[in-house]
Amino acid sequence: MAFPPEFLDEIRARIPVSDVTGKRVALKRRGREHVGLSPFKAEKTPSFTVNDEKGFYHCFSTGEHGDVFTFLMKTEGLSFPEAVERLATQAGLEVPRETPQARERAERNKSLHDVVEAAAVYFEECLWGPRGRAARDYLMGRGLDEAVIRRFRLGYAPDGGLLRRALKDKGIEDGAMIEAGLLRRPDDGREPYAFFRDRAIFPITDRRGRAIAFGGRQMGDAKAAKYINSPDTPLFDKGRTLYNLANARAAAHDRGRLIAAEGYMDVIALARAGLPEAVAPLGTALTEAQIEAMWRLAPEPVVCFDGDEAGRRAAYRAVERVMPILKAGVSLQFAILPEGEDPDSLLASSGPTALGTLIDRAKPLGEMLWEMETGAQPADTPERRANIRKNLLDQVRRIADRTVQQYYFDDMEARLFAAFQRPRGQRGAGSARGQGTGAQGAGHLRSQGNIEALSGKWEPAFLAAVLRHPELLDDCAEDLGVRRFNWPELDKLRQEIINVSGSGLDSTGLQRHLRETGYSSLLDRVLGRDVYEAAPFCDPRKTIDEVRNDWRAAWDSYWRRGARAELDDDARALGEDMTAERWSRLAAKKREIQRSGPEDQEHEQEALAGPETG
Ligand code: UTP
Ligand code: MN
Repeated sequence: MAFPPEFLDEIRARIPVSDVTGKRVALKRRGREHVGLSPFKAEKTPSFTVNDEKGFYHCFSTGEHGDVFTFLMKTEGLSFPEAVERLATQAGLEVPRETPQARERAERNKSLHDVVEAAAVYFEECLWGPRGRAARDYLMGRGLDEAVIRRFRLGYAPDGGLLRRALKDKGIEDGAMIEAGLLRRPDDGREPYAFFRDRAIFPITDRRGRAIAFGGRQMGDAKAAKYINSPDTPLFDKGRTLYNLANARAAAHDRGRLIAAEGYMDVIALARAGLPEAVAPLGTALTEAQIEAMWRLAPEPVVCFDGDEAGRRAAYRAVERVMPILKAGVSLQFAILPEGEDPDSLLASSGPTALGTLIDRAKPLGEMLWEMETGAQPADTPERRANIRKNLLDQVRRIADRTVQQYYFDDMEARLFAAFQRPRGQRGAGSARGQGTGAQGAGHLRSQGNIEALSGKWEPAFLAAVLRHPELLDDCAEDLGVRRFNWPELDKLRQEIINVSGSGLDSTGLQRHLRETGYSSLLDRVLGRDVYEAAPFCDPRKTIDEVRNDWRAAWDSYWRRGARAELDDDARALGEDMTAERWSRLAAKKREIQRSGPEDQEHEQEALAGPETG
């Protein structure tokens, strides 16, 4: 039976080839393609490549080549209709039956395309004819030249019944024009009237570049809506369509990048600024379907929305939409425009370089999420910090993919640690109150480096002490049991020690057990000289009593009691009440810390201050 080509296209659009082939072949992403070992012949070097953008796979060793359907036919021996059936179910689509109605619908869609195309041609003619003078002036007044206007096929929809008459002359009936969203039939039985009247026209195309709908901008300051878009039709599903997708596709493929702007004029401005890889949703928030369509062209599209309240809200909605559907290797990035600007106005005021730079500096989703949850509220009390943490982690819990979710938990925990555990006076770039600036990202990276340096030194030391003196567990097992370590392998070792802590093993017995459970090389490192030279409290020559005191002091200090909390308190008091005496006390403390090394070692020094002096 013959399936409508639109239906097969829809399946291809919904199911990436890498999904289907990935069930049989272990694929690795390489640039814009995936590669793996050929499923058609035994081989040692991967020659099987999959390209989701183009929608096919190719096997260089056998010459096999095809799409989602042929892959199932070749590898599972399905017939074509069976392959279609299977993938349609997977895509959540109903297989169209070859009924007279289905045939009729296919016919009608085909002729609907012709209707919309005829309207597009007519609108273009109007723009360049005598009636289009005002619209031409308007578009050129907004900085568009003839080449750009023609490239985007902009047009003009005149007032009155002209479109209806022009299309009727080409043999197109009212019914078809209504179905195509060009005419509206009033409820009171009067004559159908044109949907777009006296508006500049932006044709919307499908992924293949065929006109399927229009956007129309009013040019005066009438009270009418600034933009209207065609209603949904059999050809046009607003939530699944992106403006300029067909044009952006080739550019996105060449550059490995895609930009999502807010509107028609933004997409055109980006193209004029040398960024033809831009698309836009159609007056609504980005939908899951639109995000997935973008992922087929580029792994991390850059969302570039207006720098106003509405634009920010739209960007936040994009964050909320994308979280549940994140997968390994795909995400969104965010370019935040200056207050009050959109890409179009920024191009006019600051030129193409400014626009390009802004896009290049887009920030990752994690950063955007962080700013979203921390930017608006103060983090100056434990309860407020706890609330921020809760909101952040709630967002992360919405990620369905477990691996991505786990990494987001790690990322957010690290950010929380960096923002909330650092002494106030030093927060600066890492501050939870910080505004979204480029420097903030660097701040997080730096403070994350601190955590790693700090925990890389102390976490092994805590374990080393316990391994040498398991008696310590009598009073520290509880602490050790509830604190998750920053280093995953050390954290596993910590848990294993806790698991056997009740069994009364001595040092030799404990170490033997751990070596037998696969921790041999980790134990060598933890018990090595490097560790106790850096953290002398776990030195093997120390007595259990010495170790006991110092372990506790180091532990408390490491988890932000002791010196660090004190400095924090001082800084806070200073912020609230700036007296000369407070200032000099804080400055003296800071000097003392700084004498022992650059910023990266500050925390280590603070932590050390506990055990060494206490
Ligand atoms: P904007 O108001 O930011 O429009 O809406 P714009 O693109 O900057 O347009 P200009 O520069 O004023 O001409 C962004 C997008 O939201 C949709 C349109 O798709 C628009 O491009 N929109 C906006 C509507 O659908 N209806 C409206 O009334 C306004
Ligand atoms: Mn705008």
